[in-house]
Order: sequence, then C-alpha cells, then structure tokens
Amino acid sequence: MHNYRKVTDDLYWVGANDRRLALFENIHPLYHGVSYNAYVLLDEKTVLFDTADWAVGRQFIENVTAVLDGRPLDYMVINHVEPDHAASIAEILLRWPDVQIITTPKAVTILKQFGFPIDVNRIEQVNEGDTKCFGAHTVAFVNAPMVHWPEAMVTFDTTNGVLFSADAFGSFRSLDGKLFSDEFDFRGEWIDDARRYLTNIVGKYGPQVQHLLKKAAGLDIRIICPLHGPVWRDPDDIGYILDKYQHWSTYEPEEKGVMIVYGSMYGGTEQAAEILASRLADRGVLNTRLYDVSSTHVSYLISDVFKYSHLVLASVTYNLGIFPPMHNFLMDMKALNVQNRTVAVMENGSWAIRSGTLIRECLGQLKRMRILEDGVTMASSLQKQNLPDMDALADAIAADFRQE
Ligand code: FEO
Repeated sequence: MHNYRKVTDDLYWVGANDRRLALFENIHPLYHGVSYNAYVLLDEKTVLFDTADWAVGRQFIENVTAVLDGRPLDYMVINHVEPDHAASIAEILLRWPDVQIITTPKAVTILKQFGFPIDVNRIEQVNEGDTKCFGAHTVAFVNAPMVHWPEAMVTFDTTNGVLFSADAFGSFRSLDGKLFSDEFDFRGEWIDDARRYLTNIVGKYGPQVQHLLKKAAGLDIRIICPLHGPVWRDPDDIGYILDKYQHWSTYEPEEKGVMIVYGSMYGGTEQAAEILASRLADRGVLNTRLYDVSSTHVSYLISDVFKYSHLVLASVTYNLGIFPPMHNFLMDMKALNVQNRTVAVMENGSWAIRSGTLIRECLGQLKRMRILEDGVTMASSLQKQNLPDMDALADAIAADFRQE
C-alpha cells in the first residue's frame, strides 16, 4: 500500500523509512533509522526527483505509482547517484521505460561505473545554469560538487521556490509519519542527528558547502526538499538550519563548551578526566561533556567536536603510542578537516609516557588548532603532585570562558 505525503499542491514526497539499517554507509550507527526521500511533481509533464535505496524499493515504487495514478513518468531528475538514492533507478526504468533522465555528465560516468542499465543516448545532460520547463514549473540546475560526491547537483524550482537539495540539509532519523521540520521538535530532538549526519558525511568538504551556500543565498528559497530527513518550509527553521550549516562548513564552534575525551585502560586516565571536569565546574565552566573513546562511536565524537569550542584529549600510552581508539579519533578529525579548536592534552602511562607528545604531533597536522601549553602528565594514576598541573589546566580553560 502506498504511503506518500503532499509537499505542495502538485509536489509529493514518495520516500520511505529504513529502521533496519544498522550502519549508514556501513560505517555510522543508526539508532533511530533514516529516511530516503524522493519527490514527484505533477505538472504538464511528470517528474521524479531522485529515487531511493533498494532496502525501501518496494514502498518507494508503490508511492510513485500511486501519485502518478496512471499517468506516464516523463522525467527523472537525478541529483545524486550514491546508491542510497540511485539504487532504484533500474526499477524505474523497467516500469517506465520511456522516462527521460536528466542529470550531470559526471553522474553519467558514475552511473556507468555502478553498472546501471542506462541508455546514455536517452540522458539529457545538464550543467550549471541550465533550465528545464515541465509546464507551469521551470527548474534551474545548480552544480554542488562534493556535497556530497563530485557529480552532485541541486535543482531549484524557479516557479515556487522549492530547492531539491540532494544530501545538503539532510539528517539521520526516520520520519515516523511526519515530514516537515515544523512537525518535529527539530531543535531539541533532531539536531544532534542532523549534525552527526552532516559532519561525518560532508565535514571534510566545508569549502564546497560554503560554495553551495553562497549560490543558495542568491535564490528565493521557500521550501527545501533534501534526500534524508525533514522537509524545510518554516522560514525560521530554514534560517536555523542555514545558520548551523554556516558554522559546520566554516569550522566555527556552535557554542563555548568543553568536550573531554579519554582513553583509559584501568581507570586512571578516566579518573583524571572526571577530576578535570569537576575542577572546571568549580570555576563555573558547566557546559562540559565527557566521552570514553573506547565505548563511543567515533561519529558521535566527530559530531560534538564540530559543536564545542574546546577539546581535552586524555590518553594512556599503549605500545609506546597513542591508545588506538584515541588515535582513530585523531585520524578521523584529520580526515574530516576539523580545525579551529582550542585543545588540551593529558597523558598517562606506567612507563615511557609518550601519548601526550604524540597527540600534540597529530594535532599539529590539523589546521588552526590552538594547543594549550598547560597539560597533565601522570604515571599510572593521578597523584597529589599532579594536582597543581590539573588546577593550572582548569584555570587556563576557565580563563578562555571568561573572555567574550
Ligand atoms: Fe544520501 Fe551521498 O547519499
């Protein structure tokens, strides 16, 4: 049975939710599912904007079929060819063999690489600034390379201000019957999933997101239809998510806060992290989060490192190196271009304590990182003689918080 929702009088959401997928892209854990969004426009011509992951292929096809209600499918606009959106293209071609595909030249290359059975002669290849009229609606195509893959584009309906934004402005989480951001407690319940989605998927490509935001600023956008998560129609909500994207893509922290990430084998380093948090609280620094690097998936750590201004890394030395889960976090930060944070280091080890030096070397490879000179070196566990260093570190962080 079909299950679609109306976006405007002639535009329909025909996507579906997936709560069975454990790991998005086989990397990022999903505890609240994910939606794959696609849209059908009923104009003089009928147009499908993107498809869906094959996991929800049956529901997606039922939705498209129901919305078309016997009309032929004239066009399929492919904004993004990652298989979580493109996997059902072949099924669309089987059911509506006369459909005309519209996409970018780069997308054609990647579609061929994935082995989609597409007759290239039937693809209308479009580039930046090209337009297409479907009747009452005329759309303009805007290249969005690396948001999230190089072939990506977004499509702007110049008639009603709908932006089909591909992965941009998307989010993890299933929609659960709702569709629009104003139908959710987005700022309370959803924002962490939206941040974790964007920062882990596209965090590396901040400059490219900035490029797209600058293009979007020149458009009269009234509704944003992404490929995951809620549709944006409330002007306040659109302003809110644009502001978040501005922060994430320029690597500016959203708020002053201290994220303390510890890697601890037998509790000594963990205890030191807890004591630092207490000393920060004594000094009025209350926006703190502690994470055990061994039991927190790195995608959550990446999400919060994009959120907070300060980061404390506390690590035991392991095989004369950095504790492996902490090293993995550092490598992920580097891969995702994390920058512009204030960082402090605490190190531990029962002999040959080296983790602090090595962490500082890793941080030196990241851009615009301010590494505090204050830090703590402990042998196996925090001792009385370490407390002055602990207090000095807490003082240094608290001093930052007193500044505007
Ligand atoms: Fe949701 Fe880049 O695909």
